[in-house]
Parts: sequence; C-alpha cells; structure tokens
Amino acid sequence: IVPMSSPLEAPTTSRNIKRVGSVKQQLSRLVKESLESLFPDEVQPIVAACQAKFGDYQCNNAMVIWSQLKGKATQFKNPNSIGQAIAKNLPESEMIESTSVAGPGFVNIELSNKWISKHIQNMLVNGIEQWAPILSISRAVVDFSSPNIAKEMHVGHLRSTIIGDTLARMLEFSNVEVLRRNHVGDWGTQESISPYIKGPDRPCFVKQPVFGMLIEYLFEQFPNWEDAGDQAIGDLQAFYKASKKKFDDDPDFKARAQQAVVKLQSGEGKYRHAWQKICEISRKEFDLVYQRLNVQLEEKGESFYNPYIRGVLEEFERNNLIKESEGARVVEIDGYDIPLIVVKKDGGYNYASTDLTCLWYRIKEEKAEWIIYVTDVGQQQHFHMFFSAARLIGWLPASKDAYPKVSHVGLGLVLGSDGKRFRTRSSEVVRLVELLDEAKDRSRAELIKRLEDNGKITDWTDAELESTAEAVGYGAIKYADLKNNRLTNYTFSFDQMLNDKGNTAVYLLYAHARICSIINKSSKDIEELKKASTCMSWKINTGIGKIVLDHVDERALGLHLIQFAEIVEEACSNLLPNVLCEYLYNLSEMFTGFYTSCQVIGSEQEESRLLLCEATAIVMTKCFHLLGITPVYRI
Ligand code: ARG
Repeated sequence: IVPMSSPLEAPTTSRNIKRVGSVKQQLSRLVKESLESLFPDEVQPIVAACQAKFGDYQCNNAMVIWSQLKGKATQFKNPNSIGQAIAKNLPESEMIESTSVAGPGFVNIELSNKWISKHIQNMLVNGIEQWAPILSISRAVVDFSSPNIAKEMHVGHLRSTIIGDTLARMLEFSNVEVLRRNHVGDWGTQESISPYIKGPDRPCFVKQPVFGMLIEYLFEQFPNWEDAGDQAIGDLQAFYKASKKKFDDDPDFKARAQQAVVKLQSGEGKYRHAWQKICEISRKEFDLVYQRLNVQLEEKGESFYNPYIRGVLEEFERNNLIKESEGARVVEIDGYDIPLIVVKKDGGYNYASTDLTCLWYRIKEEKAEWIIYVTDVGQQQHFHMFFSAARLIGWLPASKDAYPKVSHVGLGLVLGSDGKRFRTRSSEVVRLVELLDEAKDRSRAELIKRLEDNGKITDWTDAELESTAEAVGYGAIKYADLKNNRLTNYTFSFDQMLNDKGNTAVYLLYAHARICSIINKSSKDIEELKKASTCMSWKINTGIGKIVLDHVDERALGLHLIQFAEIVEEACSNLLPNVLCEYLYNLSEMFTGFYTSCQVIGSEQEESRLLLCEATAIVMTKCFHLLGITPVYRI
C-alpha cells in the first residue's frame, strides 16, 4: 500500500457544552436503573414517546422480559406484575410526575410540568447545543453530490447534494466531525449508471476515453488553450457534444483521441495539464450550484485514489479473494450471481476498484467510523457488493450495526409533472443553476405581490427583498425534496413547493417570521425574561417570569419542544431527514394550536407565553439550519 502523506489529527474535541441527552435517553437511564435492581442480566431499556392518551412516554420491557423468563423460576406472575415492579423501582426523579401500568405491563410515564418548563428554560439560557443528541462516534464521512466531470450535473446530483448536506449538518450538530466528500467522477472508467442519462452514453465507459476525446478536441479547437480563459471554452456540455460528434464521425480524430488516453494515463505533462483544465471548467459550474445552496464540500475525486488501487488489490490477492473470470479479475460475493469485477479484461480499473480502494482509505487512513454514501437507489447493488468485499477482507466487522459502519443512502428519482424523469421543457438537460434561479425569481415575484397587496412594499429594501427571495426560493426546493421519504420518487413542481399553504418551506418560513413578530410586538424584553426565568428566587410561585404549562395547548407545545433532541437523533441514526421535516411541520401546527387558544400579548401569562414563543422560534431556526434553509425574520 502506498504510504499516506500525513497522518490525520485526532478528532477535534467537542465544544464546552454540557449535553444532557434527549428526554428519551434521560428516561432510559432511569428505566435502566430500575431494571438493574430487578434482573441480574443486562436488559436494554425500551422507552418511546407515545400517544397522549397513555401518558408522555412508555416503557415496553415487561412483555419481552416475561417471554424470556418463561419456564424459569420467578417471583412474577405475569407481565403486568413485571411492569408494576419496573414502575415501582424507578429512582426518585423530578422528571416524572406519575406512572401507571396498563395491560400486559406497559409502563406509562407522565413527565412533570415543572421539569418540562425547567428543561426549556435551561435551553433558552444555555443555547440549543445543550439539546444536541449524543452519538457514539466521533468521525464520519458523508460522500454526496459527486457529479462527473464534463458531464451533466443533473437533478439526481441535486437531490444527493441536498440530502447529503442535511445528514452532514445533523451529524455535525451531534458533535461528530464530518468529512464532507465530493467523490467527483474525474478519472476512472466508470460505467455511466445514472438513470438520468440515457442514450448512447448508457451504459458505456466514460471518463478516461472521454477525456482523451475532450483533450484532443481542445487542442484542435483552441490551439492556444493554455492561455485562453475558461469562457472561451464556455459551456462544457456543448463542448462535449461537439467533440462526441467528431469522435463518431471522424475515424482519424477517434484514433488521435485514443492515443490521447494513453498519453494521459502515462502522465505526459501536456495531457495532464489539459485534463486539469477540463476539470477546472466543470468544477466552476458545480461551484455555482454549491454557492447558491450554501453547501460545503471537499473534493476528493476518483483520481485521488488511483495510486492506492494496486496495493489494495494486492491485499485481496494475498488473502486469496480474487479469482479470474472471463479474463477479468473478480471477487465473488455471496448472494449475487455476478461477481464484483475489480480489474477489467483490458487490465483497466473500474468504478468498483476505485470505490473499494476509497473505502479502504476512509477506514484505514482517515479513521472514519461511519461512512455514508448518498446516491440514487439504482446504485444499491454496486455499494452492497463492495461493502461485502470489505467485510470479506475484514476491514468491516461482520455485524452491520457495529463500527466502523457503512451505509448506502439510496434516493428515489425526481420526476416531472408527466411522471417521467425530470427534464426542462425545452432542452434535454436541466441546467441546475437555471432551475435554482427560476425558484428564486418565482419566489421574488410572489413576495412582491404579497407585499404590494399588504401595502408594505415601501418598507422593504432591495437587498432585503433579494435575500428573502433567495431564502424562500432555495428553501422551497430543498424542503420539497427533504420532506419526502428519500427512497420514494417525488414530483418536482414549482407551484407546489412555492405554495404558502400546506407542508412547504414557504409556509414554515412565514410561520417562523410571524412568531418573531409576536415577540417583537410585546413591550417586554425577551433577553431579560430569559435570564430571569432560570433565576430561582425570582418571583417564585407567582408564575411570572417562568414558563407555566397550565393550558393543554401550552403543555402539548412544551412537550413537543423538548422532544427535539430525540428527533434529530432518530433522523441521524436512520438517515431520514424527513423525520425532522415532519417534526418541524408538527411544531408549527402545535404553535398555531397554542396561539389560537392562548392569548399572548396583554394576557396575565404574557411573560411565560413569550418564552414559549421564543423557544419555538429557536427550535424552528435550528430545524431550518439543519435542513440547510435560511430562516426569515419578517414577511
Ligand atoms: N459519480 C457518481 C454518479 O454520478 C456518484 C459517486 C458516488 N460516490 C461513490 N463513492 N461511488 O453517479
């Protein structure tokens, strides 16, 4: 194996924040203590939030334990008596108001209102980082976006960009160091397996042969290419098309292009330089998309792993894991009819050899504990096969849940209104930049109309209009994607995503802005209230300056707020951003419920209720942040 340039530094130590863990984790700790006092063997607590009519949380261990005790001598008569014992042995805690045991031993737990209030007040004073989930890993790779050089960056890449960014943000919030990797297709001989690209390119070997073609065309069309600005070459897709036509029509050109591949691979200066130039132009186009979406990515393209492939394959050879099959070198994988080809018949490497090597690098050199790949679900087999190969050689543990762990986050397709793969009206490709700009333009037009109707347009500066249109437009595209289960296909529709009613970013951003305006309208100083709320001696028992949850809708909102941490934890561990979207939407619905039945400004409970508004605004802002959406503070 080729040695690494520099060893990685130890994971950055977490910021100095005392994290208390989610409500679920805190309750689980109490249940665990109870279980330990009752049973000699270790039992994992099973605790979950439940429907309001049963309480707030439920512990469901009793039935499982009962079935394990069957046939053994035990003091318990039935699962219900186990439930009773678990409830009775819960340690004293200010969290719990009451418990009850139902049916076959479900332990229903009702949280104390006072504790809920205190939990929210602490967050208001110490910041929402306190509510960050506690995960058991410290470094992860998220491999996302990953378009291909000189080829179309399509809506599938957009979906991967949006979802990958959110997963990275959630992990980062949970104090995991995330290596955000753009595995750009810049070198290997990848078969184009994208469902968005059809026609003669699919399937075929792209990249190196394609690079030969592009380089030769560059030399011909732009003899002074080294000095020419990138604009001269301009749209790489048009350039690609023209050179492809020449490649197909002109056998001499084709021969020269093939020669160029050989020269490129042997590292000849001029050819490598031209290749870099082409990569540079593609990269600029990708960056336009990343800038608009405010997505951070570090490019480590396929070519980066090239020098390590030989060493990795030698390790496989040494372990007798490589066989010969029809002239190719392959790894046989249980459960698949076809083997994983790691060296092609012609001796070249492919998508699998690169990915296998890249995985080795991420585990062994970068010491990542969780490696997450975000691509269309069509690539699932490719991922599962090289994951299995890594298990065979022992880089990954046999259990799929143990660390280091790999996950393929498969995505459904983006469809057009015709139910087919999404394309724009006119051309066969959707330029992503244009798509994003259209969302912004439409949202600007809507916003102006709205402000004109309300007679407010004169209060707004151009810059403010611009930034709001951007936040809403890009936010709409992101949210429309994130709110769906990632595996399902979803239909791209500007009309739907820019609707200000229903489960859309526009609705949510405006709901947040409205909460901010309620807080601003009050004559009270929210920062003072926050400080006062945790000051124990302050107006104690008067209900002023503290959060009181007497009204059912206040309580429901309070409970939902404190469940934020476990929702992020769930969205993170199951790699499902839609869970967070659902939470955010429910939060805004609960806020509406609260605001409809509880007067805020001018009421006796104004201070407490303002604090609830503030807490809701903070949690919503954090949700937006995790979803990569810029919040809006006024409309
Ligand atoms: N370039 C590939 C495509 O456009 C995606 C790469 C995903 N990452 C990986 N490590 N294979 O489909």
